[in-house]
Amino acid sequence: MIATARPAVAALDQRLAQLEPVLALAPMQDVTDLAFWRLIHRYGGPDVYFTEYFRVYATSVPEKWIVRSITENSTGRPVIAQLIGNDIPALVRTARFLETLPVAGIDLNLGCPAPVVYRKCAGGGLLRDLPRIDAILAALRAAITIKLSVKTRLGFDSAAGFDELLTVLARHSLDLVTVHGRTVAEMYRSLVQYELIARAAARLPCPVLANGNVHSAAHAYEVVRRTGARGLMIGRGAIRNPWIFAQIRQLGRGETPRLPTGREVLAYLHALCEATATPELREQSHVQRLKKYLNYIGLGVEATGRFLDRARRATSRAQLFHLFAEYLEHDSPLPLEPLPVPLGQRDLLAGEHR
Ligand SMILES: Cc1cc2nc3c(=O)[nH]c(=O)nc-3n(C[C@H](O)[C@H](O)[C@H](O)COP(=O)(O)O)c2cc1C
Repeated sequence: MIATARPAVAALDQRLAQLEPVLALAPMQDVTDLAFWRLIHRYGGPDVYFTEYFRVYATSVPEKWIVRSITENSTGRPVIAQLIGNDIPALVRTARFLETLPVAGIDLNLGCPAPVVYRKCAGGGLLRDLPRIDAILAALRAAITIKLSVKTRLGFDSAAGFDELLTVLARHSLDLVTVHGRTVAEMYRSLVQYELIARAAARLPCPVLANGNVHSAAHAYEVVRRTGARGLMIGRGAIRNPWIFAQIRQLGRGETPRLPTGREVLAYLHALCEATATPELREQSHVQRLKKYLNYIGLGVEATGRFLDRARRATSRAQLFHLFAEYLEHDSPLPLEPLPVPLGQRDLLAGEHR
């Protein structure tokens, strides 16, 4: 069974050996599922996908829909399966099961800032317990032969212990480390500390992906230059602008990245509606689901916040389609970078992006 993982591992190795930055789509719970992977692949897509996290605890069973995103992945690009949890036997059991599927590697989440997660000493909460991280990574490294990676933040409520964390990570023959340049306490809104990602890239023996606020091809190369990272992981920027991976590659070839027109963005929104619809999903739930994406996309459409506000108030697909057409039926190019839209205190995830 493990043989099924090999083509994906080879594809990832090949990309890591090349000179251009390796591009990953960030895992985003309830957002970057298989339907979204398939959609973004049509726009060029990343080099590697990360699954939403599998919740791992003593009695956990791998979530069926996340398993399906692995077994039914039709993008042809490698997938890394992410785990969240702190129960070592359960993590080992789950990693061994996932190793039998076509995954290129297993990733441990050390960054989730949701209180319900970190209070249980999982996700970002583990950053308060470095000996536990040490023990988990030792057990996972011994348990699997495929790649093992970590996605981390800089620390829990301060980056003061980041060097110590790097020392722990460096001990475990990791294949990849992604650094989101914020602490857990900073959630998604503070500035990203790219200089600390640079420190990780310099100190770790494995490739590092820089993560946080990458919102355009030009910014992507600036982050690569500032951090010395082997590649980039992009989340919200790719939801807002699914062309971003193609644009980064264009810039890498010395071409001017092609910006989509309003009508092309409109077509993306229609494709997103189609991709997220399922027969059993009632219209109201579908509209709610679309709003998870529109929170990010809305920041790139116009600066006053009216598009975002009206999208959030919509109660039917017809209202959404009408709104989309009102703003996007034009042929002017759209950079889809975050505009200074006024955001409320509750806009924690949409956040500030610069
Ligand atoms: C709605 C949402 C869900 C997320 N879910 C996950 C997740 O399941 N696993 C994970 O490691 N990070 C998760 N993240 C964090 C992202 O992977 C990424 O680190 C973060 O958004 C910063 O990157 P960006 O500025 O490119 O979006 C999530 C972020 C958001 C906004």
